[in-house]
Amino acid sequence: MRSAVDTARSATAAAPAPATSTLAPKPMSGFNKPEETTQSRALLLLINELMAGVETRFGIKPGTLVERKLVRIFKDMPMATLKDWVESMNNCSTEHSEWQSLVENLTVHETYFCRDPDLMSMLGDEIMPHLLNLRKTQKQVQIWSAASSTGEEVYDLTFSALRAMQKAGFARLFEGKLVPEAGWSVFSFGTDISNQALRTAKAAIYGDLGMGSFRNLPDDWKSMFEDVKIAPANAMPGVNYFKIREWVRQCTRFERFNLMNNRPPVMGMDLVFCRNVLIYFEDPIKKAVQTMLARSMSTGGVLVLGASVQMLVPEYFESRLGKGGPWYVRNDKRV
Ligand SMILES: C[S@@+](CC[C@H](N)C(=O)[O-])C[C@H]1O[C@@H](n2cnc3c(N)ncnc32)[C@H](O)[C@@H]1O
Repeated sequence: MRSAVDTARSATAAAPAPATSTLAPKPMSGFNKPEETTQSRALLLLINELMAGVETRFGIKPGTLVERKLVRIFKDMPMATLKDWVESMNNCSTEHSEWQSLVENLTVHETYFCRDPDLMSMLGDEIMPHLLNLRKTQKQVQIWSAASSTGEEVYDLTFSALRAMQKAGFARLFEGKLVPEAGWSVFSFGTDISNQALRTAKAAIYGDLGMGSFRNLPDDWKSMFEDVKIAPANAMPGVNYFKIREWVRQCTRFERFNLMNNRPPVMGMDLVFCRNVLIYFEDPIKKAVQTMLARSMSTGGVLVLGASVQMLVPEYFESRLGKGGPWYVRNDKRV
């Protein structure tokens, strides 16, 4: 069944608003502008209410960008219908398909392979040697990318971990594959709120379209991919498609998880990446998420946040400053 969000979107696409529409996006603070109609004010109030629900359920803070997206989606929906719908949303569980559909439309899935080369080289030269030393008895490295979007970060982390293991003598190159030595293994877990992003991550197929997944791919990353042919019905003309090779994919798993949940989906993680998502949250939510991440980690495990994100739970970590930015080593304090 189509969700109200999808229906509203297609209605908008079918009947674009005239350039002079009084419902064109405006900042929430501009209520007293004389040219605004009662109807546009009513729309903004409903959108405000919806945004509060989005923040409570998914952490995404209200802001002009989110507001504009919502105005664009709903501006052609009759006000009475929108009012009823917002009311029913307030009473729906977070797992309801209408909320899921809305969050698909509001989340930003921008990501690409080797997004931060300095961070990747810090991972290989500083973080992985620390983790391999930590795990030399258990011989397993467990990785979690919390907010993995379409999966590029998960495959980057898996590939980098295998390469670091090869350098340390715990994996070897065999018939073009990086294979852990007997007893060793890597497990990489990717989670996201977006089902669409997770579907792409699981399929592990990426096209070389413009500023897409391959915009920053170093040559030595290419051994992770094989060429694939996509059925003409699904392929975009002129785009080449590449699939993550089986020896990398088999170390990975993807699941849906909302960062607002205070119980982590996995425990005992050695390496946790949570990048380019906390920027969408206010500080109290960032702090709750960082606490949940700390709970998921083993003592000595490493947390990597976005460069501009402040560590808000320093009581659980020891900070290190590497060549690619800060990383945080989990101490043994219970969360
Ligand atoms: C910009 S992408 C970041 C991808 C990757 N970590 C990177 O740095 O390239 C942000 C992702 O966060 C996800 N996200 C937003 N709110 C979330 C939430 N409450 N729980 C889980 N994932 C969320 C979005 O769906 C999106 O895929």
